[in-house]
Amino acid sequence: MKNNLKIINTDSRYLSKKISKECVHFIVTSPPYWNLRNYGYDDQIGFKQNYEDYLKDMKKVFKECFKVLKSGRFIAINIGTVVSNDGMKFITGDFVKICEDIGFIFRKDIIWHKPKGQTKWQRGATQFSQNPYPLKYNTNINHEFILVFQKGDSLDIDLSNVKRFNKFFVRKNAYSVWDIPPVNSPKNDEKHVAPFPEEIPRRLITLFSFENEIVLDPFAGCGTTNSVALELGRKTIAVEMSKDYCDLIKKRTKNVTLDKSLMEIYDESEDYKEMLAKENMDNLFNSYIKAKKKYEKILGDKEKAKYKNMELFDD
Ligand SMILES: C[S@@+](CC[C@H](N)C(=O)[O-])C[C@H]1O[C@@H](n2cnc3c(N)ncnc32)[C@H](O)[C@@H]1O
Repeated sequence: MKNNLKIINTDSRYLSKKISKECVHFIVTSPPYWNLRNYGYDDQIGFKQNYEDYLKDMKKVFKECFKVLKSGRFIAINIGTVVSNDGMKFITGDFVKICEDIGFIFRKDIIWHKPKGQTKWQRGATQFSQNPYPLKYNTNINHEFILVFQKGDSLDIDLSNVKRFNKFFVRKNAYSVWDIPPVNSPKNDEKHVAPFPEEIPRRLITLFSFENEIVLDPFAGCGTTNSVALELGRKTIAVEMSKDYCDLIKKRTKNVTLDKSLMEIYDESEDYKEMLAKENMDNLFNSYIKAKKKYEKILGDKEKAKYKNMELFDD
């Protein structure tokens, strides 16, 4: 790849015709949902398709992703559950099955939790709040999934000269639920694209690739993944079927350069292991003190209760 950014205006069901096999280091994407959004052109995946056809098309895309991804490397897919008249569609489960059929190994599921008050209030949940009776329960869905798969299990990488993450970054990402506000009101020219927040590709690209490596998004939309990848010093490929969105990506990424402030997640100190060990000891000690206080209180309460009972029943 000569330039750091390549925008390919094509159908991702055939992306291996445009991208060489085994050349991509990491794939991150949020595919079109089933039957939710019209991106405004013919033959798009998801819109006015029955669920089976949608899954067949998604399988084609993931197969193509498998071909272009390097062995041992990862793909992260952001997807949510869809409500339909004939029941909920747990796309997450179907994607896991599809990807395993193709040969990917399912490695992680992360829940993207959208903090309360930051999502649009959904119709079903509104109906429940206006009709709050048993059996009328409905939820305002405020989570999606991020599924991480690996192509094979051999990771031939020497980490001896690689910078390690600092403890803050490790802690932020160590839990499987990520609290990240959604993008609620995209700018006018990004209308209909349904972008995900930059924080999602930012964390994933940092966790699953190295500088100068190639990051692909096969459903690039307005280029959130690509813009973040450039800020993080990666090379990046955007595949997007809409010509208008390709123009948006070009516009959005025009002046994006490496953002050094995003590199403040690494730890340079030599005594990292010692520091972590000390911290673990401190945590252990604090937990011990907390537990001790708790049990002292329980035992104290029990003693009090004993005497109280005696007072009650002795005479
Ligand atoms: C959920 S949006 C992706 C948004 C993106 N993550 C962002 O932040 O802008 C899904 C995108 O997939 C594109 N798309 C749908 N079918 C496609 C296909 N067969 N090939 C390539 N892109 C497609 C749509 O045009 C839309 O831009």
